[in-house]
Amino acid sequence: MKHTALFSPLQLGAIRLPNRIVMAPMTRMRAGPGNVPTALNAEYYAQRASAGLIIAEGTAISADAQGYPNAPGIYTPAQIAGWKRVTDAVHHRGGRIVLQLAHNGRNSHSSLMPDGGPPRAPSATVANIPALTRDFQQVPPEMPREVGIAEIGQIVASFREAAEKAMEAGFDGVELQGANSHLIDQFLEDGTNRRLDSYGGSPENRARFLLEIVEQVGSAVGHDRLGVRLSPFGQYGGIHDSNVLQLFSMVIKSLNGHIAYLHLIEGRGSELGLSDTLHADALNNARLFRPVFKGHLISAAAYAPDSAVQAVESAWADAIAFGRHFLANPDLVERIREGWPLMPYDRSTFYGGSAHGYTDYGVHGVA
Ligand SMILES: Cc1cc2nc3c(=O)[nH]c(=O)nc-3n(C[C@H](O)[C@H](O)[C@H](O)COP(=O)(O)O)c2cc1C
Repeated sequence: MKHTALFSPLQLGAIRLPNRIVMAPMTRMRAGPGNVPTALNAEYYAQRASAGLIIAEGTAISADAQGYPNAPGIYTPAQIAGWKRVTDAVHHRGGRIVLQLAHNGRNSHSSLMPDGGPPRAPSATVANIPALTRDFQQVPPEMPREVGIAEIGQIVASFREAAEKAMEAGFDGVELQGANSHLIDQFLEDGTNRRLDSYGGSPENRARFLLEIVEQVGSAVGHDRLGVRLSPFGQYGGIHDSNVLQLFSMVIKSLNGHIAYLHLIEGRGSELGLSDTLHADALNNARLFRPVFKGHLISAAAYAPDSAVQAVESAWADAIAFGRHFLANPDLVERIREGWPLMPYDRSTFYGGSAHGYTDYGVHGVA
């Protein structure tokens, strides 16, 4: 199959992509002490600089947003300096990189919280997946603490401050982690949002948190440098909504004109790609929500080069994000262009560890 559809440029707001092959955000839990990105992280991203766009891993906007051990943050001067090393390395190789801003909400663990208290959430509902402690132990999920109204305002402000710090660190833009059962998603969906105040109840009220962040972050960094990632029909962590179609149609409509791109995870792969066959029969989100969103759309999850071409040629999506294939193929763009085979990924080295399974995946033709 010819893959030329993936090789035309795309103007994503203020960012010009030379191709439509995007690196999906992937938490790799290899930051240094103080959740500071390291030289190894810079090398990993620089190896993948031929991507049309790199979306760097979910990064905590504040200490209490931290969700995983050794995951990076963007709230201290050392973290800004660490990320600067990463963005410099990627730009030096001619690439473009945005940072995914994340707050993990209820899926976090008290050992990661600065006060040792329970993780934060819109309501006190518990996840159905284990949490990871500061020292990488899998433990049962904890009951989170419902955040108060004043605290919500502080979290919105933290998103804005983190976005400003990301720009200071040299990123080309930021993406809000509104997918995969992170805090924004927990506010959106009524299975996790039982609030009775202005942030709960109607779909409009549940979307208020996201839309306030979009407004704040957009005015800080430019709406043309802001993307939003969502995962309609995703069930990660036990998240669910009583009317997914109505909720996400409304949310996506509200984002029109306020963001540079919408990034949708397909339902079949929302569980962080832990299985290739999950929800094989799920609706195609890009196709479903395309008529609602007027801007550019990136589609992600379980794509192969051929299905990526099909999605772009059918105009369901403008660009395709690859996760695991990019993890195992630093030269994914060249491999797709030349029709070279893709290297398999090693699941055992996804999270945590060292250079092995991180920067030691070879490029084509080099042992
Ligand atoms: C190791 C790993 C880490 C991930 N971390 C994140 C993350 O930080 N933020 C996010 O939005 N999605 C994350 N995901 C989901 C991916 O971005 C992507 O949606 C998923 O892997 C499906 O795409 P794929 O089939 O191309 O791998 C992660 C996936 C993997 C495999």
